[in-house]
Amino acid sequence: MKRIMVTGGLGQIGSELVPYLREKYGHDNVIVADIREPENGDELFVKLDVRSEEDIINALKEHDIDTVYHLAAILSAKGEQNPQLAFNVNIVGMYNVLEAGRKVGLERIMVPSSIAAFGPETPKDNTPNDTVLKPRTMYGISKVTGELLGLYYWEKYGLDVRGVRYPGIISWKAPPGGGTTDYAVEIFYYALRGEKYTCFLREDATLPMMYMPDALKAITELAEAPADRLIHRTDFNISAMSFSPAELVAEIRKYVDFEVEYKPDYRQKIADSWPRTIDDSAARKEWGWKPDYDMPTMVRDMISNLKKKLGL
Ligand code: NAD
Ligand code: SER
Repeated sequence: MKRIMVTGGLGQIGSELVPYLREKYGHDNVIVADIREPENGDELFVKLDVRSEEDIINALKEHDIDTVYHLAAILSAKGEQNPQLAFNVNIVGMYNVLEAGRKVGLERIMVPSSIAAFGPETPKDNTPNDTVLKPRTMYGISKVTGELLGLYYWEKYGLDVRGVRYPGIISWKAPPGGGTTDYAVEIFYYALRGEKYTCFLREDATLPMMYMPDALKAITELAEAPADRLIHRTDFNISAMSFSPAELVAEIRKYVDFEVEYKPDYRQKIADSWPRTIDDSAARKEWGWKPDYDMPTMVRDMISNLKKKLGL
């Protein structure tokens, strides 16, 4: 039976992954773990800091966990403001989860990597799965380290660690946590409220993106994939759509008119070091990955759901 703990379970992805997993595996079998307290008073919650291996081991034992979705992290933009924190949470935290998993005998650890694993020397278009990995952000460095550590623990200890390289994730339920792709969520709120949006990326800064339902589908399908079909493990490229801020604005303007100005800040340099489009043929071949949403269907769904959420 699956007993799952989701670290960083209160974040943008966790707050949707937890109900998704509860629907799939039973409400009481999914525990939320985070460094901050839940606002909804979720009783299946454990407060922990992934920088403490002891915290993690105690939680795994107390709740009889066999599978961890490890989402606790500091994202790219926040990480460049505090690289020391990003190192400790992302790299030490990942090491602690792996060590705890090895000691307790976990069945599986799912951990998202990111397009931030790539760097300026990586081919930007149709970026291959296996290519140059020389990121220049602490976040990107932590993601490459996580991919390699996960592979090491699989080969050395047989600990089944798997992961996808998420592009920017777009969603309407919880706010994003401090990434370079956050503009693609924020902009919808401004557009629907009829407010002017100041975009922190250039209008032509094309990046790979994905709608949350596809992000949830990807990580849970990889978790269920037969081990003998996997050639890659912790570093699957996955792709759904790519667009620039100007292209997103044009699509949103089909529903609602609003004003946008572009004032690129330090996040533009991060975006410049990432791919524009991604080759996800390994994920498609090894575990049947296929997204459901493209940019127009994502925008339509975002607008419809946000209108309801904002009471518009
Ligand atoms: P988020 O910032 O929204 O959430 C991270 C959560 O981790 C927060 O709830 C935070 O309180 C918690 N946390 C931070 N420090 C912690 C600590 N020391 N101990 C325990 N919990 C801690 O992030 P997210 O967008 O939900 O991302 C989840 C994962 O997906 C991360 O690994 C991230 O790198 C990856 N990812 C996200 C995106 C995206 O666009 N959201 C894209 C690529 C990869
Ligand atoms: N969306 C994430 C970020 O911008 C990519 O990992 O940090």
